Amino acid sequence: MINNSKLDLGPLHDFYELGHAEANFLPAVIEGLSLPQKQLSSKYFYDQKGSDLFEQITRLPEYYPTRTEISLLKAHAKEFAELIGPGASLIEFGSGSSNKVRIILDALQEPSAYLPIDISKDYLIESAKDLARSYPDLIVIPISADYTRPLTLPVLPSELVRVGFFPGSTIGNFSRDEAIKFLRTASIYLGAGNGLLIGVDLKKDTDMLFAAYDDAAGVTARFNLNILSHINRELGADLDLEGFKHEVRWEADKGSIEMHLVSKYDQKVSINGHIFQFVAGESIHTEDSHKYTIETFQSLAEEAGWRSLSHWTDSEDLFSVHYLQVI
Ligand code: AVI
Repeated sequence: MINNSKLDLGPLHDFYELGHAEANFLPAVIEGLSLPQKQLSSKYFYDQKGSDLFEQITRLPEYYPTRTEISLLKAHAKEFAELIGPGASLIEFGSGSSNKVRIILDALQEPSAYLPIDISKDYLIESAKDLARSYPDLIVIPISADYTRPLTLPVLPSELVRVGFFPGSTIGNFSRDEAIKFLRTASIYLGAGNGLLIGVDLKKDTDMLFAAYDDAAGVTARFNLNILSHINRELGADLDLEGFKHEVRWEADKGSIEMHLVSKYDQKVSINGHIFQFVAGESIHTEDSHKYTIETFQSLAEEAGWRSLSHWTDSEDLFSVHYLQVI
């Protein structure tokens, strides 16, 4: 928790900082770059600059997930509101700009509270303030935390139902084991009988996937490379962004689009006194974006203690939205 008197909360009701989101950054980077296939967790993309770049990605013509999901949310908002019922508290995992949740809040009957959880603290507070100004009757409590780790959420006296919101197919950025762990943990926060509205990207033609993750304007490349700037700034490193290039691979067995940063030449980098060697062509694996079918996602959810009550897809079967209930 945090001393809120130091923060200007403006229209916000409260603010929680659960653990320091960057506390494990250095050990995680050292461990990841020491593996035979060097890797970095995609959660480290999202410093302020990375969050801004991701917002730009969502507006790219090639990046179909955001606009398709928004159309689905708009088209079915009334059905979600019926499934959720009145007086709900909405908990959003990885809330980013908090834009999509407005579609749900507008449709819900007297929602009692909105708790956005995000690792990127400054971005979280600004987005939550914007949202609170638009919904003056709603209790808005941003929580700065890494939601992939166990956390204790505040219990609000007024809440009747707790519903999770996890849009954008961020679940796709988790391995199967991580996805099950996340869904199990979320089922504990939300409690028996409560629901989760979740967006899940679907398997499709790989040309469309390559275009979405390697756009013509190079925004995704800048987003990928920005993880190196984040490390340089936070961990006192000397990674040269010019020394790496963005690469996208489709791993059919995993059903995943992988993003890599490939070293352009042999090089040595120093991170907080730790030296790492790269040979030309060697990569750092920075992201997995798994693509599901309706059936593979439903069976994953079931394994994690959820039952699927309903799901919706667009006419081209690009993206899906699921309403799950804790068993
Ligand atoms: C946040 N996440 C669901 C995005 C995705 O599509 O996997 C992150 C992203 N990576 C490259 N472009 C977008």
